[in-house]
Amino acid sequence: MLKIANHTHYHKQLARRLVEQARHIAPEADMTLGINDSEISLCSVINGQHACYTHSFTQPRLVKRAKQKNQALLKACNNKKQTLHRVLDLTAGWGKDSFILACHGQQVNMIEQNNLIAACLNYLVEIAGLEQPDDCYQRMEVFHRNSLQYLQQNPTIDADCVYLDPMFPAHKSSAKPSKDLQLLQMLTDNQDMELLFAKALECARHRVVVKRPLHAPTLNDIKPDIVYREKTIRFDVYLGK
Ligand SMILES: C[S@@+](CC[C@H](N)C(=O)[O-])C[C@H]1O[C@@H](n2cnc3c(N)ncnc32)[C@H](O)[C@@H]1O
Repeated sequence: MLKIANHTHYHKQLARRLVEQARHIAPEADMTLGINDSEISLCSVINGQHACYTHSFTQPRLVKRAKQKNQALLKACNNKKQTLHRVLDLTAGWGKDSFILACHGQQVNMIEQNNLIAACLNYLVEIAGLEQPDDCYQRMEVFHRNSLQYLQQNPTIDADCVYLDPMFPAHKSSAKPSKDLQLLQMLTDNQDMELLFAKALECARHRVVVKRPLHAPTLNDIKPDIVYREKTIRFDVYLGK
């Protein structure tokens, strides 16, 4: 069951739309969705402990991270001449990667199959855009769809770079993922990922980028053309033919 606590004062209309969308959603575990004028929170009980995930595109930590110019995500999703203007994010999730790309000038269309996550994402992009109208939020657009169906219906997509960040496979060690990730895992999962990747390779105009854990096997066992590494993750880049 999903409980909803709406505490908005200014963005009442947008919040009402989110409440309306969320009202019909029944996650597998009991959860509470908190909505206020600057962020959303999702809370549940994990292993007997209360856990919450709070998200907004104006959180100082995320804004600071978005400003870092040298990160591998930016190198992977653009070329040296910076001519890849349009990104299609097929696994939007909480939209953090898309936000970083949008803050560096790319137009990002974000597709998310989970209805609760897509509705929250849309709310967060809209409230952030209202508060800072000239900023990167204007370059982010959210679509609630299954990406495989989207690509099948739109084979000639208008995107220079197609981006995929599948949910990471379970870690071999007994270490549990962070609470944020556990909450995300309670809500959603990868759908059609192998087929989606194959279709993305077929449709992409210039490149497909896949985010992976540093030592995970490549998706569909296909060798990338370029790899950009960070401490715990890497970005596999597949260049268009
Ligand atoms: C690891 S999260 C992405 C995190 C995101 N990159 C970020 O920065 O917040 C993966 C997301 O992909 C979504 N997803 C998985 N398969 C999908 C599909 N076939 N179509 C659309 N979304 C999908 C999941 O619902 C989940 O929200």
